[in-house]
Formats: sequence, structure tokens, C-alpha cells
Amino acid sequence: METQYHIPALLRESIEGLALKPGGIYVDATFGGGGHSRAILAQLQGGRLYSFDQDEEVLKNLPEDKRLQFVHGNFRFLSNFMRYYGVEKFDGLLADLGVSFHHFDQAGRGFSFRFDADLDMRMNQRATRTAADILADYSKEELCRVFRVYGEFRQAAKMADVLIKARQEQDIRTVGRLVDLLRPLLSRQTEKKDLARAFQALRIELNQEVRALEDLLTQALDLLKPGGRLVVISYHSLEDRLVKNFMKTGNLEAEVKKDFYGNNLSPFILVNNKVLVPSAEEQEKNPRSRSARLRIAEKRQ
Ligand SMILES: C[S@@+](CC[C@H](N)C(=O)[O-])C[C@H]1O[C@@H](n2cnc3c(N)ncnc32)[C@H](O)[C@@H]1O
Repeated sequence: METQYHIPALLRESIEGLALKPGGIYVDATFGGGGHSRAILAQLQGGRLYSFDQDEEVLKNLPEDKRLQFVHGNFRFLSNFMRYYGVEKFDGLLADLGVSFHHFDQAGRGFSFRFDADLDMRMNQRATRTAADILADYSKEELCRVFRVYGEFRQAAKMADVLIKARQEQDIRTVGRLVDLLRPLLSRQTEKKDLARAFQALRIELNQEVRALEDLLTQALDLLKPGGRLVVISYHSLEDRLVKNFMKTGNLEAEVKKDFYGNNLSPFILVNNKVLVPSAEEQEKNPRSRSARLRIAEKRQ
């Protein structure tokens, strides 16, 4: 059965956050099912939208629209692609990070612990390494880091230990085997959430999602016009912290720079001081939106 490709989170809030100019140039860094892109196009009169996705499966969601340029590639190469298309600066960029529902609902891609399949988890299907390769060749320390930093597991070292021992007998290549190995380490009450976190951690590592986000943020700052908007929805506390600090300071080191008089020299003005989350109504209609966190900043004039 064909399930819905994706339901965009915080759609109204994020589109409002872009403060669209009808003839402006915009970037949707994460096209997915195209919900955000379609909402942007609906408000543009003329103008131009560059929509990125590294997953070629999204091609089937592309609307026919002359104002839309789809970019099949990783958003971490934003500057290169913009140069290629002759765009010097744009008026706003939206990024709705992570994976789409389609990724989770497609049994064969290994993103979800709900379906037994190969441990694939590649967002870009042309990439050569899979999650199974990480489990096959990472050291104990590296595996521990993945589960501790991206999964926030206190028992990360134990998890790494169990996986290293198990792979000495046989490679861990399927979702089912990984779940069987992790399950005894997790509490029954939180098992599903914990498995989801463990899978998310592996996915973030494999697809280098944090590095890609860092690259995107620094390039976006450079490419935004003065007064342009940066709008980011994240689903992981580490990513949200990165976005928050970047918007506050304009750098990845989260270093607040001040002038002689103590004024903050950040290149951004925060549009929402407090992070925006889905309303109770949205969460009820779309439970998967629950962890979405939206931040909006404007580049100083
Ligand atoms: C949460 S979905 C976006 C959903 C979209 N906003 C919508 O309305 O349907 C994230 C999408 O971004 C893509 N993606 C994630 N990281 C990417 C990256 N570094 N470069 C390009 N695309 C990426 C994924 O393949 C996925 O399709």
C-alpha cells in the first residue's frame, strides 16, 4: 500500500518565517515530499526556488513549475550549486532536516526498527557505505561515541561492547539482528523509543548529518542577502543547539563577538527568541511532528 510520502511539520510557521517576497530567490534545502516547496511556490509571483534533495526517490514528488529548479545533491555543497546556477545571493533558505516519513515507512531502506531489512540507511542511494559497514568496521570507541553523542545513551559503552562481541561471530547486517542484540540492554517501558534513538544515531553518523548542517549554515550566512531569512526545523537536540548557537553568534564555535560598547556583533537578528514547536493540534494530527523545533533568523542589513 502506498502511504503518504511526508506531512510537513510547522508548515505555516516556517513559511511565515521566510517572510517571502513575491519576486525573491529562495532555497528549500530539503525537498522531500515537496510540502514546503509547494507552499513557497504558492506565494511567489515570478521569483525562483532552488530545491535540494540527495535522495532521488523524491523526483516523483516534483511539481511542474518553471520557477522551480530541483538540485539532486547534498545541501552541504550549497555554494557550489549556487555558483553553478549563477545565483550570487538569495532572499531566504529553509531546511527541514532529517528524513521523511517515506524513509521510515519503506521497509527496504533500513531506517526503521519496525521492518526487518538490510541495515542500509543511506539517504543518498549512490553512496557506497551503509549502516552495516559502520557496525562492521568502527572501533569500540567510535561506536560508543555514535550512541553517546547522537543517541544520548548512558549505556553507550555497553552497547558498543555487545555489538563488537557479536560481530566477531557474524556480521551485523540486518535490522532484525541489530534489534535482537540491543533489546536486552534496553528497558521494556522505553524500548521502542530507545530503538528509534539507536537507529537515528546510526543514521546521523552514516549520512554525516551534523557536518552537513554545519556546512549548510556557514554557506547560507554567506549567501543570504541582507534582510534575508534563515529558517531551520530540526528533530534532534544536538542539531537544534547547533542552529540556536549559530543564529545567536554567526559562527559554529558559539563565540559571542561584541564591539567596544558591548553590542552583540552577530550577523543575525533572531526572529523568534524562543524555539517554536508544533501546537497540540498539529501534534495530534501529525504525531511524527512532535520533536520538530523551528528557529528563524534574519541577516542584518
Ligand atoms: C524531513 S524531510 C523534508 C520534508 C519536506 N520539507 C516536505 O515538506 O516534504 C528531509 C529531506 O531532506 C533530505 N536531506 C536530508 N539531508 C540532506 C542533505 N544533506 N542534502 C540533501 N538532502 C537532504 C532527505 O532525503 C529528505 O527527503
